[in-house]
Amino acid sequence: MSRLIEPAKGPLRGTVKVPGDKSVSHRAAFFAPLADGVCRVRGWLEAEDTGRSLTAVEGLGAAVRRAGDELLIGPGSFPAPGAVAPGSPRVDVDCGNSGTTARLLMGLLAGRRARVRLDGDASLRSRPMARVVDPLRAMGARIDYAGEAGRLPVLVEGAILRGIDYRLPVPSAQLKSALLLAGLCAVGETVVSGGGASRDHTEKMLAAMGADLAVGDDRCVLRPGRRLGALDLPVPGDPSSAAFLVAAAALVPGSEVDIRDVMLNPTRTRFLDILADMSANLRVRPDISSVVEPVGGISAGHGALRACEIAGPGVPALIDELPLLAVLAARAAGTTRIRDARELRYKESDRIATTAAGLRALGADVVEHEDGLDIAGNPDGFPARGVAEVVTRGDHRIAMAFAVAGLASRGGVRLDDDACVAVSFPDFFGVVEDLQRGGAAT
Ligand code: S3P
Repeated sequence: MSRLIEPAKGPLRGTVKVPGDKSVSHRAAFFAPLADGVCRVRGWLEAEDTGRSLTAVEGLGAAVRRAGDELLIGPGSFPAPGAVAPGSPRVDVDCGNSGTTARLLMGLLAGRRARVRLDGDASLRSRPMARVVDPLRAMGARIDYAGEAGRLPVLVEGAILRGIDYRLPVPSAQLKSALLLAGLCAVGETVVSGGGASRDHTEKMLAAMGADLAVGDDRCVLRPGRRLGALDLPVPGDPSSAAFLVAAAALVPGSEVDIRDVMLNPTRTRFLDILADMSANLRVRPDISSVVEPVGGISAGHGALRACEIAGPGVPALIDELPLLAVLAARAAGTTRIRDARELRYKESDRIATTAAGLRALGADVVEHEDGLDIAGNPDGFPARGVAEVVTRGDHRIAMAFAVAGLASRGGVRLDDDACVAVSFPDFFGVVEDLQRGGAAT
């Protein structure tokens, strides 16, 4: 459904919690069935993307149970390592909009006794899969494209794998994770390098479960064979969801928003460093370190912003926040340049194109490059006077970034589709409304 986001009538105020981290929740669903006991997951993200992963592992035999607000995930009859017997029944998995579900599952299942067809929605069917399929095939995986080469749907038939020494062509956490998951049931060690600044939740979680994994110098070395222990896993708030509220506070005059229990893993918080460079009014308070991931609070308030330069090896650590940073840049003094972000073109939408089109609808001066954007900021406001019509292409982060823009606009923003926020932050609009009422939502 379309939704009109009206300009905020007053400041955004209050203390909120954001839903659990999407990347950690996906990994909880995929790693728990490999443990030799039942994992307890607290703060699991109830959203469409993570639901796809949980439904998939359940369909493959994992024992999934809800106990109050905890999720209990045990191995059940999850497929063991080995080659699948000929003629075994096929399990069909719909990965929906979720690239993480599709790519991690390919690695997880390539060396297990299962026959699985993976498919997804139109957006996911258009995203590149060869980057995962090619190295998995080099490990001995049997993965066939059921439609167009390099795209979903694929058929994965469990095979005996051998370890690989592989340098990632793009610093992608999904790719790195898929290969490490395959490496868990391969013969010999798997070495993955070139992950750069991409998120490291897989490494941290596997290490916490007792996997024989050495991480250092842009290289992970995994030796298979260790038994994996069950985790008691708190899922902290998703910094990529918190980012939208931080940005809304930065743009709407008089705002003061406090967000509690946010994950502060440095591979996810470069957004906050960039905001500090833009001289945003921001305070980050790390809590005493919790299990597996660092956590803390973020306070954000309104303030004048300055343009910045975003490029280089740190880009993967803010890849999901770039559309939102582009919106902030359009309200900053000076011209912001974003480069080395070609990967944005392969996300839920071509985020360079969707972001540029949305900013133009708001009257902003933006130049599109193959690997980024130049945005000439206007601290006095987005130029558009009437309602800006923004096309989300069903991309949750584009919808939320431009909802934030709408709050800080002159004439409002109409999103052509608001339902896509359910992919990662189902109550996004409710939380924003609470903050507009100055209430404390938790
Ligand atoms: C994710 C990794 C990122 C990110 C995605 C989730 C993950 O993609 O864009 O939203 O959970 O591993 P890449 O690191 O593969 O680019």
